[in-house]
Amino acid sequence: MPAALVTGAASGIGKATAERLRADGFDVLGFDLEDGDLSTREGNQAAVDAALERFGRLDVVVANAGVQHVSPVRDFPEDRWDAIQAILLTSPFLLAKYAWDALTASDAGRFIAVASAHALVASPNKAAYVAAKHGVLGLVKTLALEGLQATAVCPGYVRTPLVEKQIPDQARAHGMSEDAVLEEVILQPHAIKRLIEPEEVANVIAFLAGPGGAAFSGVPVTMDLGWSAR
Ligand SMILES: NC(=O)c1ccc[n+]([C@@H]2O[C@H](COP(=O)([O-])OP(=O)(O)OC[C@H]3O[C@@H](n4cnc5c(N)ncnc54)[C@H](O)[C@@H]3O)[C@@H](O)[C@H]2O)c1
Repeated sequence: MPAALVTGAASGIGKATAERLRADGFDVLGFDLEDGDLSTREGNQAAVDAALERFGRLDVVVANAGVQHVSPVRDFPEDRWDAIQAILLTSPFLLAKYAWDALTASDAGRFIAVASAHALVASPNKAAYVAAKHGVLGLVKTLALEGLQATAVCPGYVRTPLVEKQIPDQARAHGMSEDAVLEEVILQPHAIKRLIEPEEVANVIAFLAGPGGAAFSGVPVTMDLGWSAR
């Protein structure tokens, strides 16, 4: 049975992805904060080691764990910048490095980073997130050229706690009511005015992890309800 490691699997997109890959016949190890801190080298090593120990192989890594911080650059806390680069950019690098031998030994090895539409376009007040997500796309392109089949899934806004938690911060940053934030800020860049469901992202990840994904490498796989068409 093929084996997958999914980070950030306790919530949102990671949880939906772990469930979907299990339904598709993968052995799945979900890794989240209760298992280790993926903003450290030790945490990423532990995640890869745990999957290899449990399954004896690793065919798919989904680098998904993430956080957000909303603040203009002039007030952005430096420690939050460092923490966001560690989880959103350095963790995918470390996972790819530590899982390299196992993934390249597999007939269908895939490294799938959950990036974001923010890998392609920017928004104000999210400097650390936008910079890290652009970086992840650069990482995925480089992995592809070095011989690891890698893609960056780039969703628009998805209905998860990561988005729900931003609403009060966005309201503060924009000086708006929380009610107005979903309509006028969160959904503003989507041509189709709805949130994406976590299962829709899991569907795309499952496609990329399976036979349909065989020709995708070094590219963003964008699913953003028209956001980046602008
Ligand atoms: N929700 C969206 O609109 C959206 C859009 C595009 C991309 N994304 C990306 O999707 C990914 C998943 O986000 P989500 O929306 O499902 O968020 P979420 O908050 O529901 O889940 C994120 C998970 O990551 C885990 N995590 C965070 N820091 C960790 C750490 N240091 N060590 C281990 N685990 C850690 C959290 O505990 C949580 O379970 C993120 O990379 C995010 O940037 C989300």
